[in-house]
Amino acid sequence: MRIAFYDTKPYDKIWFEPMAKEKGFDILFLEEKLNKHTAAFAKDCDAVCIFVNDDAKKDTIKKLKENGVKAILLRCAGFNNVDVKQAQEEGIVCMRVPSYSPRAVAEYALGLLLAVNRKLHRAYVRTRDFNYSINGLMGMDLVGKTIGIIGTGKIGQAMLSVIRGLDMRVLLYDPYPCKAIVDKTPEAIEQFGKNLEYVDLDTLFKESDVISLHCPLTKDTEYMINKKSIDKMKDGVILVNTSRGGLINTTDLLDALAKDKFAGVGLDVYEEEDEFFFEDRSDENISDADLIRLTSYRNVILTSHQAFFTKEAMMSIAEETLENAENIGKDVSSPNVVLP
Ligand code: NAI
Repeated sequence: MRIAFYDTKPYDKIWFEPMAKEKGFDILFLEEKLNKHTAAFAKDCDAVCIFVNDDAKKDTIKKLKENGVKAILLRCAGFNNVDVKQAQEEGIVCMRVPSYSPRAVAEYALGLLLAVNRKLHRAYVRTRDFNYSINGLMGMDLVGKTIGIIGTGKIGQAMLSVIRGLDMRVLLYDPYPCKAIVDKTPEAIEQFGKNLEYVDLDTLFKESDVISLHCPLTKDTEYMINKKSIDKMKDGVILVNTSRGGLINTTDLLDALAKDKFAGVGLDVYEEEDEFFFEDRSDENISDADLIRLTSYRNVILTSHQAFFTKEAMMSIAEETLENAENIGKDVSSPNVVLP
């Protein structure tokens, strides 16, 4: 099987190249992102392998079909960049890696929370310049404060495990709550503690000192953080987003930042990230004014979609993506198959 591997970075090759060789796959590594113009590079390939910022929307899928591609292998969990319905109509199978290391993302979300709260990013820069003043670096104790977790799937639950030691009150929101947590089973109490409850979204917005987003980007969740929801939040709230940029209306976030609404904002994703993230743009003038403004706020940490990026996660992504390639068309009920 020949696979066109889009948006290749050196760290992808490290994991995929030896494993593909072992399994007998022929991989064409391409630096370009997939879009309707680059789809032709996949000519004579059975599948394309793509990442979070490749564009597999309608026009691209039509081009892939014209070039004989039979499968889209997502080397990630989220699939908001794929027109799955169109793919199904064209007979192209979509497969993803639903879970590779939820802990990697959760540990990173905790890292962002701790860093923005205690202003580690500013302290680091100061002491590099022999500035040992701590003016302006005051944070808050998290113990006893309230954290709201939106989305209690694999990563949301991993987040519950990693924040246990903080002894915070935990509010949860998910339209499909985790039954074990609702039923307070001994296993759930053992894993997540007792101090947590599902509430409606408004209550979570109103009562949380920290809000962490762990739901997918869908029509329902797009811009769930907007002027209206931000207005409901406490002044001095900390917001962490390691899910997808489109969950937050950036214009509304910037307005609220200008009004000092947030004590801190930790972002690993940004709604217009596809043009910038994963690339070195340090020699260029950045054309995106919102991105520049976000980066300029001292209480914002913005990172380039790296929450997943651990050795364990990379190995697991490579293994499962290539297993998906072996299983194309075999088990349509597999949770790895993405359906509209
Ligand atoms: P999951 O599918 O296990 O859990 C998602 C949860 O969100 C489910 O429980 C679902 O019921 C819930 N949900 C759906 N609609 C919702 C709504 N309107 N409000 C609140 N919750 C809602 O997914 P998982 O593995 O936990 O991943 C979550 C997201 O994290 C992914 O969709 C992806 O966007 C993001 N992600 C980010 C990474 C990074 O490197 N920054 C890496 C991996 C995933």
